[in-house]
Amino acid sequence: MCGIVGYVGPKEAVSFLLAGMEKLEYRGYDSAGIAMLEKGEIRIEKSVGRLSFLEKIINQNKEKLTGTIGIGHTRWATHGRPSTINSHPHTDCDGNFVVVHNGIIENYQSLKEMLIERGHIFKSETDTEVVAHLLEELYDGDFLTAVQKTLRKLEGSYALVFLSKYQPDTIICSKKDNPLIIGLGDGENFVASDIPAIISHTRKTYILGDNETAVVTKDNVKVLDYRGVPVKKKIFEVEWDAQAAEKGGYEHFMLKEIYEQPKAIRDTMSGRIAKDNSKIVLEELNFSVEDINDIERIVIVACGTAYHAGMVGKYLLEKFARMPVEVEIASEFRYKDPIVNEKTLAIIISQSGETIDTLAAMKEAKKLGAKTLAITNVVSSSIAREADKVIYTWAGPEIAVASTKAYTTQLIVVTLLAIYFAQIKNTLSKEEIKELCQGLKFLPEQINDVLEEISPIKTFSKQYGFNENIFFIGRALDYAVALEGSLKLKEISYVHAEAYAAGELKHGTLALVVKEVPVIALATQEDVYDKMISNIKEVKAREAVVIGVAFQDDQEIEKHVDHVIRIPRANKFLTHVLSVVPLQLLAYFVAVTRGCDVDKPRNLAKSVTVE
Ligand code: F6R
Repeated sequence: MCGIVGYVGPKEAVSFLLAGMEKLEYRGYDSAGIAMLEKGEIRIEKSVGRLSFLEKIINQNKEKLTGTIGIGHTRWATHGRPSTINSHPHTDCDGNFVVVHNGIIENYQSLKEMLIERGHIFKSETDTEVVAHLLEELYDGDFLTAVQKTLRKLEGSYALVFLSKYQPDTIICSKKDNPLIIGLGDGENFVASDIPAIISHTRKTYILGDNETAVVTKDNVKVLDYRGVPVKKKIFEVEWDAQAAEKGGYEHFMLKEIYEQPKAIRDTMSGRIAKDNSKIVLEELNFSVEDINDIERIVIVACGTAYHAGMVGKYLLEKFARMPVEVEIASEFRYKDPIVNEKTLAIIISQSGETIDTLAAMKEAKKLGAKTLAITNVVSSSIAREADKVIYTWAGPEIAVASTKAYTTQLIVVTLLAIYFAQIKNTLSKEEIKELCQGLKFLPEQINDVLEEISPIKTFSKQYGFNENIFFIGRALDYAVALEGSLKLKEISYVHAEAYAAGELKHGTLALVVKEVPVIALATQEDVYDKMISNIKEVKAREAVVIGVAFQDDQEIEKHVDHVIRIPRANKFLTHVLSVVPLQLLAYFVAVTRGCDVDKPRNLAKSVTVE
């Protein structure tokens, strides 16, 4: 994880660095630091805690930071606890080099032992510090050559940015399996882990590839491949609006992003459903009947919320296209000797496109011969670049750590994909396809309706938000939604929440359901509605407080539950897109009620680029 920024140009670097780091705080926020070249010396300021602590230190400094070249880092600890000493940037023994890093140096222990033997003195517990000492060890009069020699010794993943007082007008940076972009300005250039850090300065970027190294001065950016041969990079123009990455009047990014879902869904469906609702159009796939018939098995690989979207994908692909689908947690997939071959389609779901477990799982599937299809929200992300085919979710930048609009747009894409496969395989009738297409087009307005009815959800969050245990139950698609609802609650409000397939509860977990324990019961699946009512009765018999999530016109539900959250009636295969919205809101309001840091929950980060 971690966010990285760099600046070289005519202006004082500090303001860009701090503003850029603030935009990247979603990547990690347990400590922060910057390094600057000033009057031929390296000056470093760092602090444990949020970026605001570092800002305070910098503002209180008698001697202002005036350098016009600098680097910055906001950290999510991997090696070494969050502390000022462990925060980046790190230097060598003599303070001639300084480095910031996102990733993990896997062979740092052996490198550290070798360097200690050669007399280097280490100050921190981090893996990153070895990089600075290695640079010092390998420096022989040329900064770039020393960086290249250093990179050859490293195993693991990294985005690294270096400064040296031997070449005070130059930033050198490189990456492997972690993102790094260069923003191209006019007489100034920028380095960052992600676009929000630079978008208010430039839209022109180079996206560094793995094992590429960039030498960045204020007037020039030279990119070299792993052999040191210059690479001709294509400029990638960022198309989003800078406003899209700001809070826009909402108290938290998460709330803003929940409210952006109708637009995000509309954008994601745009051009992908025929005007007359007769078919799904996924030009980016262009699969023929033979291509589809050649697929014996689908494996969906993802983590966390994206995994829950994968569960919905499995349900719909099997139902609509009658294709066998497995859903795998990415961090497990790679190490389990997966049964994958040329007849497998691996669908990789990742909002960021940078999750290292997911990326590694995709590489493994590719190595075993699978065709790969990525569903991601970030254009030109590592996963998008590695995959054979990509379908983008057009959710726009998602800043809050808890995923909301990226998730619902993933739901839309897996639904479109399942219908698309079914239409090629002829496993859905024309009428069924038409009905689904129409239903999809209603969803943005229906979500708006859910978003207008938030007051009961606010009330429940105050009433039940201080309970330490909350259960979510559902069947079929409602089970996947229950899992997502419970994850949202756990991650941002720190309430212990469990999600169960409602019929499974009685096989053990029912023992935990006692008087006044809140149970959120999703009841939108008409095929199993009666069964769900029986499961609700089971928890009511243990005196649980039940909050049902049901359709507006469902008059049966209120006979069995204590409260109801209503959603508009929708096609039974599309309800998951609606029923998750009140659960997102519930998690949000519980977190606010409990005084939690909604957008930056403890111990988490937005982009998980470590295994
Ligand atoms: C939870 C959440 C995470 C991510 C997971 C995968 O709200 O956002 O569970 O879904 O870390 O991230 P991506 O989708 O970027 O691969």
